[in-house]
Amino acid sequence: MSEVHEITDGIYRISHFDGNHAPVEFTQFLINDQRPLLFHTGAKGLFPQTLEAVKKVVDPASLSYISWSHLESDECGALNEFLRVAPKAEAVHGQIGVMLSVADFFDRPVRGLGDNEVLDLGQKKLRFLVTPHVPHAWDAILVFEETTRTLFCSDLFTVFGKPEPITESDIIEQSMAALKDLPGYLPVGPHTGAVFDRLVGLEPKLLAGHHGSAYSGNAVQALRDLRGELFKFAGMAV
Ligand SMILES: [Fe+2]
Ligand SMILES: [Fe+2]
Repeated sequence: MSEVHEITDGIYRISHFDGNHAPVEFTQFLINDQRPLLFHTGAKGLFPQTLEAVKKVVDPASLSYISWSHLESDECGALNEFLRVAPKAEAVHGQIGVMLSVADFFDRPVRGLGDNEVLDLGQKKLRFLVTPHVPHAWDAILVFEETTRTLFCSDLFTVFGKPEPITESDIIEQSMAALKDLPGYLPVGPHTGAVFDRLVGLEPKLLAGHHGSAYSGNAVQALRDLRGELFKFAGMAV
């Protein structure tokens, strides 16, 4: 069964862990506002559970937007299923994703937002960041909710196991332990530092990742630390 936790005002974390099938938890986020948005749909196989979890917060038919970081099953595998129960919802992604592939996969057109475009959800304002290859995949985007300073950071800070819904404890050690078991998971190259600098510059207060606790400690320092550890791991100068 999926669990639902409100991690900050109006932002809900919907999580599912089944250690028999995957070593990580899968987490979707629902921003409940005048125009509700779901970030990550979860995999198609999890749709019934994710839908039930969404229903605990909003009527799925009231969803205005659905978005995700990059084209992978755990990010957007259930998009068509959600579009069926949310007839007014618009799928929204970065322009690279729209150009590359998503129109071929989904039943409704996908709106492509440019880098730094802000989606007005009502009280909340969601900034779209085009971040090719961070966390991975050319089409990758990350999004930042400006009023709560929540950075939805997808596969950054992935950990194994079922973590607490929200934590202030150090997340770097566990993240790097997972990365060392997942070679190639997060590519590190000349592009990486600039994206991390940009994320730090947003001064997030809460990190909402796809496979780990929401992190309410010093988020800026955590991003700096992950940047440093990734470069060290890759054998590159920080
Ligand atoms: Fe991914
Ligand atoms: Fe993921």
